[in-house]
Amino acid sequence: MISKYIINLIKYIFFITALTLISIPAYSELSVEEIIKGRKALFSKNYSTAKKVQTFASKGDFEKAKNLMIEMSENYKKLLEYFPENSKEGFKTEALPAIWENKDEFNNLMTKASNDMIKLTKSIEASDDIKGTLAKLMWANCKACHSKFRAPH
Ligand code: HEC
Repeated sequence: MISKYIINLIKYIFFITALTLISIPAYSELSVEEIIKGRKALFSKNYSTAKKVQTFASKGDFEKAKNLMIEMSENYKKLLEYFPENSKEGFKTEALPAIWENKDEFNNLMTKASNDMIKLTKSIEASDDIKGTLAKLMWANCKACHSKFRAPH
């Protein structure tokens, strides 16, 4: 009798341990608050960096502009990880539910924005329309994404 009881107890402990392990989400190190505030900070950073890119490129300071383009490209890649299922609301997020309903489309836009910044490093110097090239490969991507995936602000 006692041994049966012990076996059941061990089974029970094993079961609970397994359940606990399964239910820990991949990004458990970051709280929802850290995720939402973290992505807002990355977007704000990219905005100020984009304005610097515009300034440096317009002045013909291409080396500085290119370094910042690469930084923006990397930030977009990081942002791909900042929209887990549990970060749909709270902490004044402007992220729309459309993101999680169209995750592939959203991720593709983010990846395109990242890739376009690399394209920009290769084409900006030879461009005879700096402003137009920046509008097409940098600013257009902000608008394309915000119009569908960010709440009006
Ligand atoms: C693939 C989608 C996507 C792209 C590309 C994108 N954004 Fe955003 N952006 C968002 C989303 C979604 C939010 C809302 C995030 C939140 O509030 O949780 C946001 C928020 C912001 C914010 C507000 C941050 C805050 O503190 O609340 C700024 C500023 C911003 N974006 C600027 C830009 C600029 C400038 C570009 C282009 C250079 C850009 N974004 C490109 C999706 C995008």
